[in-house]
Amino acid sequence: MSNLIRNCWYVAGWSTDFSRTPEQRWLLGEPIVLYRRTDGGIVALEDRCAHRMAPLSAGRVEDDAIRCMYHGLKFGSDGRCMEIPGQELIPDRACVRRYPVVEKNSWVWVWMGDPSLADDSRIANSKALDDPSWILKTGHLDYEANYELINDNLLDLTHLTYVHAGSFGADEAWSRNRPKIETLDNGIRSSRWIINSPPIPPLGKAAQHERVDIWTSFDFIMPGTFLLYTAMYAAGTARLCGEGEPGAEHEILFNNFTSQAVVPLSEQTSRYYFSWGPGAAFGTEADAQIMIDVAKSAFLEDKVMIEAQQRIINANPQVRPMPTSADKAITIFQRMMKAQDVARDAPVFERA
Ligand code: FES
Ligand SMILES: [Fe+2]
Repeated sequence: MSNLIRNCWYVAGWSTDFSRTPEQRWLLGEPIVLYRRTDGGIVALEDRCAHRMAPLSAGRVEDDAIRCMYHGLKFGSDGRCMEIPGQELIPDRACVRRYPVVEKNSWVWVWMGDPSLADDSRIANSKALDDPSWILKTGHLDYEANYELINDNLLDLTHLTYVHAGSFGADEAWSRNRPKIETLDNGIRSSRWIINSPPIPPLGKAAQHERVDIWTSFDFIMPGTFLLYTAMYAAGTARLCGEGEPGAEHEILFNNFTSQAVVPLSEQTSRYYFSWGPGAAFGTEADAQIMIDVAKSAFLEDKVMIEAQQRIINANPQVRPMPTSADKAITIFQRMMKAQDVARDAPVFERA
């Protein structure tokens, strides 16, 4: 049985990915077609014609409907068949599944579970790409691995010291100290100071400092959204803050934000969407470009490790992990996901 959880919102792409031209996406092993109606709203339908299973994404959008370009059946944006060329009677079962879909903060989110449970207030508060407070650039990466391995990677940033020694140039402190972990409604928060560290470029005002204190805090929201805020301060600031969250009275030298979403396309394939960039008050377009370029090379380092890990796991799936103290956030998050998973048995397939 699949370990993928149905009752969740999943990112199907950036808002800019979708237009009047149908686009195919896979989520939890299911093909989905997305396109925009004449009013600009998004439609997400099962990408499998009710007639003989041709992909509707190879079809043609007509007003708000989509026509299968194999034998011409036409489906409304509610998933009901409106026309069968050469046939008067349209059977009840001539329909495709319609998925709840929401556009929020530059991502398009599709609800894969019981439609009656789709509550878009549970969607993570990522940052919109046109938020004037940030200069964000984007990318995505496809994985041959189960998405939980990518979640686990993000939930434990001790790996920065080892996997990303070259790209991010992370200090030893990333692997040696432990963050404070808090439980949120639908995820976890992990925060800490990296004290007296060399500043991580790009630097802004931090360029004038040999050592800085770095405040770093992320929320990881179910099923896989990672929202990380990082800010550099003059060395000594962490102590002044009692090693708690820095207040507005302390001068930020440079800060940045990244929204990332890990999405199961199928049991063993995943897509990783990300944006990254500096605060508009502290950095420039050029800084944003440096950051996204570094991030892209760093994420390839993760991909090499995680895909290799998946191959080893697949060879002997009965072998269990041996958690360390760095795995606290992973353990808590996995428990939350399991609780979410009881909804797996809820009715999930409701035709329009
Ligand atoms: S498969 Fe779509 S109309 Fe025949
Ligand atoms: Fe990483």
